[in-house]
Amino acid sequence: MAKTKGRGVLKAVDGVIAITVNINGRDQALKVVSGEYLLDTLRREGYKGVKKGCDNGDCGTCTVLLDGRPVLACMMFAAQAHGRRVLTIEGLGTPDRPHPIQQAFVESGAVQCGFCIPGMVLATKALLDENPDPDEPAARRALDGNLCRCTGYVKQIEAVLLAAKRIKASPGGK
Ligand code: FES
Ligand code: FES
Repeated sequence: MAKTKGRGVLKAVDGVIAITVNINGRDQALKVVSGEYLLDTLRREGYKGVKKGCDNGDCGTCTVLLDGRPVLACMMFAAQAHGRRVLTIEGLGTPDRPHPIQQAFVESGAVQCGFCIPGMVLATKALLDENPDPDEPAARRALDGNLCRCTGYVKQIEAVLLAAKRIKASPGGK
């Protein structure tokens, strides 16, 4: 995997900042406007799986992983991602080869309109990377910042636990 080296000092020229961010394993040189949020940068660059829900830090639909930890892309400046690794849902699986977490969400019936699912899947990935054997309270805590307007917050928890089981049974599958 390509790594973004050295964070260096950023300078704005006419309000534009040049940054390098490793997105889904690939270093990308980006120009962002001073004060631009990471959510808007990612969507402009084509990562439309990063959803804009509330745009206010409340719903979790914009969750991405920053150096492996979940962050709200609507609440951090794009420039803060300079020199760091960002994982969006596009980096996790494909329709032909879904990641085990994505598969578990589908099989558990956790997906209705799907708007909240990229954020939930990425929050789940961060959890399982840190704790491969979560109990139900741990799964609930991991998703407690991710709102869903369609479901009752039962199927998603079942999906997290199913994904954990699958990944444990198939080492290297995560
Ligand atoms: S869009 Fe970021 S938390 Fe809702
Ligand atoms: S499945 Fe529709 S918002 Fe969650």
